[in-house]
Amino acid sequence: MTYGSSAAATRALDGVDLDLARADSLAVMGPSGCGKTTLLHLLAGILTPTSGTVHHDGTDLASLGDRRRTRLRRSAFGFVFQDGQLLPELTALENVILPRMLGGTSRRAASAEARAWLDRLGLAGLHERRPTQLSGGQAQRVAIARALAGRPSVVFADEPTGALDQRTGAAVLQVLVDSCHDSGASLVMVTHDATVAAVCRRTVAMRDGRIAQEFVRPDAQRAPLTAVAR
Ligand SMILES: Nc1ncnc2c1ncn2[C@@H]1O[C@H](COP(=O)(O)OP(=O)(O)O)[C@@H](O)[C@H]1O
Ligand SMILES: [Mg+2]
Repeated sequence: MTYGSSAAATRALDGVDLDLARADSLAVMGPSGCGKTTLLHLLAGILTPTSGTVHHDGTDLASLGDRRRTRLRRSAFGFVFQDGQLLPELTALENVILPRMLGGTSRRAASAEARAWLDRLGLAGLHERRPTQLSGGQAQRVAIARALAGRPSVVFADEPTGALDQRTGAAVLQVLVDSCHDSGASLVMVTHDATVAAVCRRTVAMRDGRIAQEFVRPDAQRAPLTAVAR
């Protein structure tokens, strides 16, 4: 993947080859600028690669038109970013409902799902709050509810606990990993933090746009959070 052209071009990814299994969890680590976000955006169909391909369930994302790719993103993928990116003028509940309605779900069904997810993530009683009336950890739970409400097959998280203190971050991470695990979604999570990465079954360490190392933890699903809680 190259940004820009000719003299000013940046090769952000180079020769990355990656397979993600159903219901698996993958942490992407590495120093700032090594290509983590670029990789996430390519996998999610937000960016189209300048060379190489990205397949989801056998379909080359680049072969879909913009509209079909957007539809796939809405139906099959969920996203959690560092600062949640909730819409400030909407309530917590409306933030979870809106993408579902854009995806064609009725308001009634979307609302029932959203309430159930918010309650499950410990936000009962906060449905009507706006993002500015929530703590950072609560706002990230809303973002997780929004990502999971559509029953995605893959959740993409870019430094989801990066803006939280260590303790709040660990709790939010537990909710994220458990929610993905329980609903059978795969998780791809970018992080700088090795204790955060330790909740994932696989970790790839990137350097200069390449995968420099890969680790597998066969027991990560059974005891996902001990490493973080300590
Ligand atoms: N939109 C863009 N235009 C040009 N260069 C970019 C753009 N986005 C990222 N880059 C460059 O690509 C490289 C990888 O960036 P990024 O994927 O954001 O890294 P990370 O998430 O690991 O910090 C960096 O050199 C960055 O400056
Ligand atoms: Mg990044």
